[in-house]
Amino acid sequence: MIVGAQWGDEGKGKIVDLLAQESDLVCRYQGGPNAGHTIVVAGETYKIRQIPSGIVAGKPSAIGAGCVVDPSVLIGELDELEARGHRTEGLVFVSGNAHLVMPWHVALDGARERRLGRLQIGTTRRGIGPAYADKATRIGIRVQDLLDPKILRQKLELAVAEKNVWLQRVYELEPFDLEEIVATSLEHAARLRPYVADTSLLVHRALRSGQRVLFEGAQGTLLDLDHGTYPFVTSSSPIAAGAAVSFGIGPNRIDEVLGVAKAYVTRVGEGPFPSEIEGPASERVRELGREFGTVTGRERRCGWLDLVALRFAVRVNGMTSLALTKLDVLSPFDELPVCVRYRLPDGTETDEFPAHQSDFHNARPVFETLPGWGEEIGDDLPAAAQEYVRFVERQLDVRVTLVGTGAARERVLALA
Ligand code: IMP
Repeated sequence: MIVGAQWGDEGKGKIVDLLAQESDLVCRYQGGPNAGHTIVVAGETYKIRQIPSGIVAGKPSAIGAGCVVDPSVLIGELDELEARGHRTEGLVFVSGNAHLVMPWHVALDGARERRLGRLQIGTTRRGIGPAYADKATRIGIRVQDLLDPKILRQKLELAVAEKNVWLQRVYELEPFDLEEIVATSLEHAARLRPYVADTSLLVHRALRSGQRVLFEGAQGTLLDLDHGTYPFVTSSSPIAAGAAVSFGIGPNRIDEVLGVAKAYVTRVGEGPFPSEIEGPASERVRELGREFGTVTGRERRCGWLDLVALRFAVRVNGMTSLALTKLDVLSPFDELPVCVRYRLPDGTETDEFPAHQSDFHNARPVFETLPGWGEEIGDDLPAAAQEYVRFVERQLDVRVTLVGTGAARERVLALA
């Protein structure tokens, strides 16, 4: 399985695309249209939010129960893929247990963020938090509800009545019209019906017959609802264990966990970020790495590689190897600071990620500076780039098996 080792946007889409070539089934296990995977194949760019990126490689692709699905986004992607010559029926599978992101979730996400003002989380405003909240409160609408028009209407009636009170009385927004919502949902139901599947059984059967199953995480470890930098997190479980929960398989079925980290760090949205770069170098990394959000277009905040946070990601995911992406972005820099420890407010230093937010909020980075390589990366890593990679391996005690050296699919070096 492939998991984001930082705050998302690590370049997982490209690694999934690469490994999907040798997989029989690709599974997305959490999140929804807040994710944005960019894949470049034969000069064509695909930006996918709901469907596992494996679909671009023509692989069977499943969306697990732990995901939230915005039906209009999913249908838009199915339509676009088909228009670009990709088959989807019989290849895309959606768990009937996944929850739907409804228009009121999107409205409430935006309204809450506006109300929070300075204290906002900086969400993607795609309705993710409110949809997962309804799931946990047990008033959500699931993909399988689309299959029965009577149940669908009942659930929509209850939901619209309740959400309209919130929207009107608390946030002073326009209410939703029940009949319009029912009509749209019935259209969505008709389009999505052929894709609804028992994704737990699908994975079980694939594994039983010796097939290779690839799980792809969205977002990243530090955005995990339980283990990330709460409250500046997403509302699902991007860490590796989330895959077993989402697909209803035993955790012992996952035998390899490949973490994906950039050779530096980015973060979108608010929240503490100890290794954040100050000054013009930040702008330079952003431009070189084209660090603007796939979903929101927002500028990403940029930082030097943070090995304290990565060490934590290795631990909570049970990472067995690491892919280091976008190493080429660092090529123009003469010196490369790497954060190896945090200095805490009491003056002590630690190389373990602080368990409590107050320590993390006030942590200062302790950098070690490595030499740059002063040349573009071709088919081999320059000696100083190799040293950068070896330094990361020594610090984390995990093998770096893949290195990303450019946007296109083929710009990945496998390390011996
Ligand atoms: P939400 O997932 O839209 O609720 O946003 C919660 C936090 O997760 C915010 O800081 C977002 O910027 C961040 N986030 C959500 N999805 C992604 C992603 O795909 N990449 C990077 N950050 C993300």
